[in-house]
Amino acid sequence: MKKKVLAALMAMTMLALTACGSAAAPAATTGSSDSGAGAVASGGGKKVAVAMPTQSSERWMHDGANMKAQLEELGYTVDLQYAEDDVQAQVSQIENMIAAGANCLVIAAIDSDALVNVEAQAKNAGIPVIAYDRLLMNTDAVSYYATFDNKGVGTKIGEYIVKNCGATKDDPKTIELFMGSPDDNNAHMLYAGLMEQIQPLLDEGALICKSGQLAFEDNNTLRWDQQTAMKRCEDLLTRYYADEDLDICACAYDGLSYGCMSALEGAGYTDANWPMITGQDAELMATKHIISGKQTMSIYKDTRLLASKCVTMVQAVLEGSEPEINDTEQYNNGKIVVPSYLCEPVPVDKNNYKEVIIGGGYYTEEQLAE
Ligand code: BGC
Repeated sequence: MKKKVLAALMAMTMLALTACGSAAAPAATTGSSDSGAGAVASGGGKKVAVAMPTQSSERWMHDGANMKAQLEELGYTVDLQYAEDDVQAQVSQIENMIAAGANCLVIAAIDSDALVNVEAQAKNAGIPVIAYDRLLMNTDAVSYYATFDNKGVGTKIGEYIVKNCGATKDDPKTIELFMGSPDDNNAHMLYAGLMEQIQPLLDEGALICKSGQLAFEDNNTLRWDQQTAMKRCEDLLTRYYADEDLDICACAYDGLSYGCMSALEGAGYTDANWPMITGQDAELMATKHIISGKQTMSIYKDTRLLASKCVTMVQAVLEGSEPEINDTEQYNNGKIVVPSYLCEPVPVDKNNYKEVIIGGGYYTEEQLAE
């Protein structure tokens, strides 16, 4: 199954490359959305190694394929590797990338604290490191960080809940939180953005979390794992929602939403009492769920744009050019403040998915209808 998806993504990438410059590129995995057409091949065969976390989540497949396509278009040689959420496997992959003579490392970490030594090795070998989507913590070896506004993702999920759930003091709604992985800085930032929005409703009693599991240490999900979220949701439904429905699943990622959906179905929820369910990444399946009404919203992150910003950082460290940076304050990794580019996350639901997702050329109408 995974192999089939990868093959399809690679085929789409090839198509995008062939159609380089076409404004109406039809898939999520295409060349750069703003640097592809007419780009001058400057890479000269230099080796860029890209370490990605897992192929089990669609977004990382897009990220890897986009990075590979856009770097190759510029004449770089790309070594793209996935570690299937195995922390030690990622460490070994990066060690091998260094040994194989990479000129630059792009890393989307599984557990960035585990990479501190290997990053120091890269620094000693004079290999620049760029953090991709997830901040590399506790290292001074990282030059730049390309990401989305991670607190903004939480803010937007929170704003959506507050605006659309209809909770008031007189008509309170129940809510449970399914947050991301504690070893991922993004998960903490998302949580902070979300809580800022929903805290006033919790304080006035318009939102009620019956489990009381509002602290991140109680509602996080190691490795953003779907099964873990499903089991926790099953447990919460049994323990706290036997007599009253759960109205809102505030999920930090589409995979967690799928886990909650299975638990809800297992507990007998139907269209009549189906909760509001949030997510992140606007995966193909999640977008289909948004259309069918099973998932309420997600956060669309255009991985083509993120890849194009990261590529400008690779060019900067390898060619001495200036990358685009729009944040020099927020991303303190414990050792340094990493100069960053934050792309904008966009909330999508039934009302705007056509304009944002189909209009943006991320998925076609046909893909969503399959
Ligand atoms: C990313 C999210 C993604 C999550 C799970 C986070 O670091 O920013 O887009 O949903 O990891 O893969």
